[in-house]
Amino acid sequence: MSKTLLSIGNLKVYYYTNRGVVRAVDNVSLTVSSREMVGLVGESGSGKSTLGYAIVRLLPPQGRIVGGKIVLDGKNLLELSEAEIRKVRGKEVGMVFQDPLTSLDPLQKVGDQLIETILEHLNVSKKEAYKMAAEALMEVGLPPDRLNSYPHQLSGGQRQRVMIALATALKPKLIIADEPTTALDVIVQDRIMDLLVSLKEELKTSIILITHDISLAAERADKIAVMYAGHLYEYAPSDEIVSKPLHPYTQGLIQSIPDVFVRKEIKEIKGNPPDLANPPSGCRFHPRCPYAIEKCAKEEPPIVNVGKERYVKCWLYT
Ligand SMILES: Nc1ncnc2c1ncn2[C@@H]1O[C@H](COP(=O)(O)OP(=O)(O)OP(=O)(O)O)[C@@H](O)[C@H]1O
Ligand SMILES: [Mg+2]
Repeated sequence: MSKTLLSIGNLKVYYYTNRGVVRAVDNVSLTVSSREMVGLVGESGSGKSTLGYAIVRLLPPQGRIVGGKIVLDGKNLLELSEAEIRKVRGKEVGMVFQDPLTSLDPLQKVGDQLIETILEHLNVSKKEAYKMAAEALMEVGLPPDRLNSYPHQLSGGQRQRVMIALATALKPKLIIADEPTTALDVIVQDRIMDLLVSLKEELKTSIILITHDISLAAERADKIAVMYAGHLYEYAPSDEIVSKPLHPYTQGLIQSIPDVFVRKEIKEIKGNPPDLANPPSGCRFHPRCPYAIEKCAKEEPPIVNVGKERYVKCWLYT
């Protein structure tokens, strides 16, 4: 068994808004092993990005971590000072954001952004940093002369590669990729995912792949964590999630994947996710669940272990 790299325990992340307290991540526990890719899936607003950014404590001002622990390689990230967590970002945990145009500086050449990141974290000369930046670009399949390009001079796929180069330049232990391919066409998406998988093998990193696309996660990730309305509802190896989804919500997500080769009836999950400032009582999925019983509206089910590396939060299995 591979060793645990990241362990999240009973994490609570709330947003304090004028509409009230939005409980975006509520009591979520999750572990990620070294060299493992975990797909974090769920509908829009389920708390995936909030969980991802909370790991490196990059939350907007209204967002606050109100409970739990986040342990990376034996170190509780929630106990670090602001200066210490800044060192963790980039060096130990790399981030790939959904939209490279908003996260790359439009006025700075790609190379300068890479070199700056390297110099910020490593005690190397400018010349060495330049060499490392060129290598990081080659690693993601871009010619080193792209160091001189500005972000707007690159295609969407190339920009995403630059983001990945930035995230991997310091060889972090963990990469958090938030919808890294959502804005790209399927061919470029495939190449970027190939790249992430090969970097995982080469750099021996772990990856948290945040995506609303459960079929992408099923294809690429080792495990899948299913979030709904701020709760973690199922966590299991990808092949088992696909062949035998346990939670009714996961079953709904799997049934809503269109299949190009087999003509099948696509069943959408009826209804909409709840407002997290005022979530339903009991199981937050119960208003949409075809199997809900009386208890589901009253009591929140615990997440329980139902097999090797399989966890589910549902009264049907408790
Ligand atoms: N800055 C914020 N202020 C207040 N509420 C927020 C803020 N950011 C997110 N939320 C709320 O927190 C919840 C979780 O949002 P989050 O962005 O984490 O979801 P997500 O699963 O990443 O969704 P998507 O697939 O659309 O990216 C939602 O209810 C959202 O409205
Ligand atoms: Mg998101």
